[in-house]
Amino acid sequence: MTRILFVCLGNICRSPMAESVMTYLIKTRGLADITVSSAATSREELGNPPHPGTQRVLAAHGIPLIPHRARQLTVSDREDFDLLIGMDSSNLRNMARIVGQCGKLHRLSEWTGRNNDIADPWYTGDFESTFTDIWEGCNALLDALL
Ligand code: 4NP
Repeated sequence: MTRILFVCLGNICRSPMAESVMTYLIKTRGLADITVSSAATSREELGNPPHPGTQRVLAAHGIPLIPHRARQLTVSDREDFDLLIGMDSSNLRNMARIVGQCGKLHRLSEWTGRNNDIADPWYTGDFESTFTDIWEGCNALLDALL
């Protein structure tokens, strides 16, 4: 069993998008022993559902939205998950502040080999480009896990 936690700043745009994409890929590839969830580094959006832009881009690609309410990353997530995967370098710094430095902290683009930050559509308004990065990252991560 591999337990994956996607993490971003607000937990309403990128990490719930990654949670829904990864859940979809796991299902379509017929995999069973991987679980997925998501969390925020900040407290800004606690309790809120995924952003309408995230909901729209997932629907446009035929990917079911996994219901989620924003929650903050906690120190116990370090034990509860095998991979804590942030979207950008700022996420990684904040994640390390909350759970401490450990080998479980990664950036999603590690697996595509591009090592880029995944742009925050909260600021760019470009949910489609973020979706493309997340789609590629999740597929590359799954390829590596299998
Ligand atoms: P996310 O985007 O980290 O991809 O969920 C953001 C959502 C909300 C805020 C910042 C980023 N905010 O400051 O409320």
